[in-house]
Amino acid sequence: MSRAAELAERLLFREAVTLTERAYAPYSGFAVGAVVVGPSGRSHHGVNVENASYPAGLCAERAALAAMVSFGERRLRYVAVAASGGRDCLPCGLCLQALAEFGDPEVVASVGGEVRVVRLSDLLTAPFAGAGAPVEGARPERPPAGGPNGRAGR
Ligand code: THU
Repeated sequence: MSRAAELAERLLFREAVTLTERAYAPYSGFAVGAVVVGPSGRSHHGVNVENASYPAGLCAERAALAAMVSFGERRLRYVAVAASGGRDCLPCGLCLQALAEFGDPEVVASVGGEVRVVRLSDLLTAPFAGAGAPVEGARPERPPAGGPNGRAGR
């Protein structure tokens, strides 16, 4: 890997660490920040958002993914995840499945106290592919109407 790519990945991880301060995690105390990057190179942010009804809580990775798709991008290049206190955090199984819908990004995360880069497909080797392919015209690669940010012509 080039030094530039390595630096970019470290910066993405730092961005995810900073985001942990915005997490809403009063029940677990495990604050998570996630940054996802699509074709534009822009960072899309997410944090975990917990709820008194525990299963209603949302992981940081899926929050970031929703931000990316809402912006108008549907292809993942990078996912950086960080937990508060320097704790290790790789995406959970549910998030791996959600992320796999949009490609096979590099995942930048702390593993054994070290920032590491792992391919999503090495973490989830056999994502569920559903009852067949998405219907024609609704594939993830297909850009949304209006393009990124929904602003046609910009
Ligand atoms: N969490 C994430 O945000 N991402 C993960 O990949 C693992 C877990 C959150 C969910 C919950 O709010 C807290 O961390 C403890 O599980």
